[in-house]
Amino acid sequence: MNGGLRMSRKQTFTIFGGTGDLTFRKLIPALYNMYAAEKDELCAQVVIIGRRDYTSEAYRELARGWVEKFARLHYKAEVYDELAKRITYYRMDFTDENAYGGLDELYRERGVEEHIFYFAVAPRFFSTIVRGLKRVSGAEGGKVVLEKPFGENLAAAASLNQEMEAFFKAENIYRIDHYLGKEMVRNIQTIRFANPIFSNVWDAEHIACVQISALEEVGVETRGGYYDHSGALKDMMQNHLFQILTIVAMEQPGSPGVEDMHQEQMKVLASLRIMDDTASSMVLGQYEGYRGEASVNPDSGTETYAALRLFVDNERWRGMPFYIRTGKKLGKREMQVAVVFKSPAPGLEQNILNIKIQPTEGVYLQFNIKKPGESDDIIQAKMDFCQSCSFINQMNTPEAYERLIGACFRGERSWFSQWDQIETSWKYVDQIREKYHAEGCALHSYEPGTDGPAAAADLLARYEHEWFD
Ligand code: BG6
Repeated sequence: MNGGLRMSRKQTFTIFGGTGDLTFRKLIPALYNMYAAEKDELCAQVVIIGRRDYTSEAYRELARGWVEKFARLHYKAEVYDELAKRITYYRMDFTDENAYGGLDELYRERGVEEHIFYFAVAPRFFSTIVRGLKRVSGAEGGKVVLEKPFGENLAAAASLNQEMEAFFKAENIYRIDHYLGKEMVRNIQTIRFANPIFSNVWDAEHIACVQISALEEVGVETRGGYYDHSGALKDMMQNHLFQILTIVAMEQPGSPGVEDMHQEQMKVLASLRIMDDTASSMVLGQYEGYRGEASVNPDSGTETYAALRLFVDNERWRGMPFYIRTGKKLGKREMQVAVVFKSPAPGLEQNILNIKIQPTEGVYLQFNIKKPGESDDIIQAKMDFCQSCSFINQMNTPEAYERLIGACFRGERSWFSQWDQIETSWKYVDQIREKYHAEGCALHSYEPGTDGPAAAADLLARYEHEWFD
């Protein structure tokens, strides 16, 4: 036990969107893992808000199935039963402001004094919930965790931010980006800065390109309604991938504290160049069959795939491309950061450092070596370190949501997105998106189960690069 997840008995964790995919797959399993690891200390009540007609008993049984399926730690009925006792399902339409009186009543009955609200709903509902919470006594003193994307564009995000800060205290607003809770994302700084073999060559002089990939096998599943308003640029690029890009590209923060890190990340965001030639710097695609998915507009122009060629205009990176791609319904699930070094001499293969974020966590390093025997030929040594292959590591590594919810319980704000980061990334993404459409660039179709649109391979081939797989 790390003793860190103490919550007062009066503190209550309320999830809006309690019957959604995120709650099933991530939030309830995360609470289970936290509870299993900290069971003497995690004493919160959990209130689940949903529109569906469940009793608390029925919901707890449903949630048992999600825990069995998705929890990192082994399912034990007696552990789950203890957690389940703390879960109350409260049926309510959270878009109906009048319904919040009843919620207030429930909190009074339970003697709740401290709140943590989790908005696991599409951002267009955030304001409605805040208006409703004005009818809940003490809500304004609580913490709030906001799921990404924060807003739907820069203007919406800015007005949402104002509204949130007008109700909650700024220091109680936790804008979650769960990629910042992933073990290997946390490891990027150590790999970079604690190893002179990398830190001394971490620049455009030595590196040919950096490739950041977040590939998914799943499609939009049950989230068509949300996703069709969002798309790959807003759903993954503007937040998760830009967070990673900035950690890879930033200067070493002056101190280990997160404030310095944010400042360095901000400098990278501010140095991102808007591409002149959108058609040869950006590819958007949509998988075949997407328009037939539930709750998706049959004429939808939403992208389910995006690949970008970006430049960070500063001394370290000038002239070196960062390639970033993400997509759904692809041939594999893989998230990684591949650093491809320049070839030291004509004909020699490039060194490659690949930081593997998921599903396997580890580091792959490819370098040149003499072929064993009499020959002087050069071949590649391929060293593959798998951190998550160790059972002990798996058991000791919390999942992203577990880590971040725990941090919020403890009031640690370090690994949450800051408003200025969100604002600057929105500005960038809004601009390139508008440019892409204004210039009439195509939405490329791709077959499910493949690598995505052929145009994404061409995007690199044009510059004599290829995606590292
Ligand atoms: C979410 C996106 O933020 O991240 C989803 O909204 C995506 O569309 C998910 O599937 C991917 O998360 P992970 O942790 O499975 O890589």
